[in-house]
Amino acid sequence: MDTRLPGQYSPGLSSPKPEDAAMADADSVKAPKDFQVDVPQKNETFFLKGCEHMEWGMKNRLSKIFNPNTGRTVMLAFDHGYFQGPTTGLERLDLNIAPLTPYADTLMLTRGALRTTMPVTFPGGIVLRSSGGPSILKELSDEEIAVSIEEAVRLNAAAMAVQVFIGGPHETKSVHNMTRLVDLGQRYGIATLAVTAVGRELTRDAKYMGLATRICAELGATYVKTYFVDQGFETVTAGCPVPIVIAGGKKLPELEALTLAYNAVQQGASGVDMGRNIFQSSHPAAMIQAVRKVVHENYQPKEALEFFETLKNETPVGV
Ligand code: R5P
Repeated sequence: MDTRLPGQYSPGLSSPKPEDAAMADADSVKAPKDFQVDVPQKNETFFLKGCEHMEWGMKNRLSKIFNPNTGRTVMLAFDHGYFQGPTTGLERLDLNIAPLTPYADTLMLTRGALRTTMPVTFPGGIVLRSSGGPSILKELSDEEIAVSIEEAVRLNAAAMAVQVFIGGPHETKSVHNMTRLVDLGQRYGIATLAVTAVGRELTRDAKYMGLATRICAELGATYVKTYFVDQGFETVTAGCPVPIVIAGGKKLPELEALTLAYNAVQQGASGVDMGRNIFQSSHPAAMIQAVRKVVHENYQPKEALEFFETLKNETPVGV
């Protein structure tokens, strides 16, 4: 009995069947193999600060968050509802945010927003809000981990975002939330974004930001989100061994928000995680495209504002 699998050629058993001819090695007319023995295999270095020794899967996910051509990212942040509810500009995620997704490298959002209203064809990185608990009615820093690692994998998250309250009343707990997510993320190749949250009682200066970002990086965060400070921000980015992105913060006039983004990336930030300054703009689609020009093409703030004004005049209010 012929025990060969379909297409399997066993020399000496019997003559090849017609389908064997399709097998590359069985085709005697083919040119000899060329292993190019004199060409060394390329060892590529990874483009992101502090991430050279990550696994392939982690690097692949990080490449969906950060643009490999510029090393920077425009993260569209709209996770605010996890403690604020339907804040201004986020009343309807399907109408306010989904149309902006083509302009974002990365979406920072809750799993509820992702499942219910985001296009499943979005090609960029998903950064999943993974801590939560208290609302604006309570003590905000008392957060727990709010997503399982299985859920993060199921949703194809590139990173999990966790709030870290250095100097806050629940400092150790929030740091522990982060380190647990780092351990789980390392197991599956999912990055952890540490979000440094600054309590009202703390001073937002380079010393504090340097302390908070460095602690997060040393305890394993893949990258860190913090706030820009006018004095000494370059010492914060220099002292942090992993990439830093900045939060946009409260709504500013467009030129000021573009200047904030410009100063941050020129002083070493690897991009922005911007929410209100985009979705609360009179023209969110024009604004996010202007932010892209600053982050990825080093536009000066005034150039980017002109770009915003041009796009704005071509589109109706609210788009
Ligand atoms: C805040 O709780 C969220 O993590 C936001 O994603 C973050 O603050 C960025 O949004 P915004 O630019 O509005 O500050």
